[in-house]
Amino acid sequence: MKEQLESIRDRALQELGHTGDLQELEKIRVNYLGKKGELTAILKQMGGLSPEERPVIGQLANQVREQIEEGIQSRADTLKQQALARQLAAETIDVTLPGKPCRRGAKHPLSIVLDEIQEIFIGMGFEIVQGPEVELDYYNFEALNLPKDHPARDTQDTFYISDNVVLRTQTSPVQIRTMEKQKPPIRIISPGRVYRSDAVDATHSPLFHQIEGLVVDKGITFADLKGTLETFIKRLYGEDSVVRFRPHHFPFTEPSAEVDVQCFNCKGQGCRLCKNEGWIEILGCGMVHPQVLRNCGIDPEEYTGFALGMGLERVVMRRYTIDDLRLFYENDVRFLQQF
Ligand code: DAH
Repeated sequence: MKEQLESIRDRALQELGHTGDLQELEKIRVNYLGKKGELTAILKQMGGLSPEERPVIGQLANQVREQIEEGIQSRADTLKQQALARQLAAETIDVTLPGKPCRRGAKHPLSIVLDEIQEIFIGMGFEIVQGPEVELDYYNFEALNLPKDHPARDTQDTFYISDNVVLRTQTSPVQIRTMEKQKPPIRIISPGRVYRSDAVDATHSPLFHQIEGLVVDKGITFADLKGTLETFIKRLYGEDSVVRFRPHHFPFTEPSAEVDVQCFNCKGQGCRLCKNEGWIEILGCGMVHPQVLRNCGIDPEEYTGFALGMGLERVVMRRYTIDDLRLFYENDVRFLQQF
């Protein structure tokens, strides 16, 4: 029995040396130490031994079991270490490889120029206010002297949400909202999105941006309007800019004017940029109509004011000689990266 035990141990240990994975190892454990294993079978025969032999063989059997168990354990450790080493080798990261470049974002050209315009007006003591894009017909039209049957409404192809709710077609309603809330002196600009039901082409978009301006105080005159706008335009386009006021009509201002700046490309000679006119129109303006002041509870005998409205896209297109409005909204990074 002693020889049998020793042979079991020797065979088991030898087999262990050849195992390549943990499954083979488990098979060996079952074959020798399992319920139907060789060592267990021997132990079952111990009953037939003499009382003297029994403790000797028992001790040896225990030794053999321990040796096999240790053998299995140490082989398992080795196999696990080898597997880990293989995995580490396979997953090695080369930290010296160059990283994937990640593109930096940049300000949109509309934002760049809007920020600049805001800075100029803030420098002249203006505040920036916002108004809603979904607007009551009353604020977008009625209170600005554009009653329901007014022909000028047709020139602003309006998106109606209901009979008296529209997507604002201009930023001028913010004038009314401001005057309703705030007592003069008022000095605000209000930039924002406006909507008109226009088909998309190089110069039209159903969504674009305007910047509204409004000043109301005692003794405001057309001279204040001219001075403010000339200062603004010279800061925006350069000190040598030449500015021209042209009579015009807007329902909410009286008198009204359109303001042109002499084409900085051809200095008034006429070129492609100014469509051979020598001048480029940049905004509409005028003295706030007395009825508009009255609509907001401001006494036109006591207060006067001026207002202005300009399209942001046009200013930016001129600034960077961009000839297609659609580029602003497509957000092609190759376009945006240039600013
Ligand atoms: N709201 C006008 C438009 O969309 C622009 C405008 C003209 C605004 C004259 C004004 C103004 O405040 O005084 O065409």
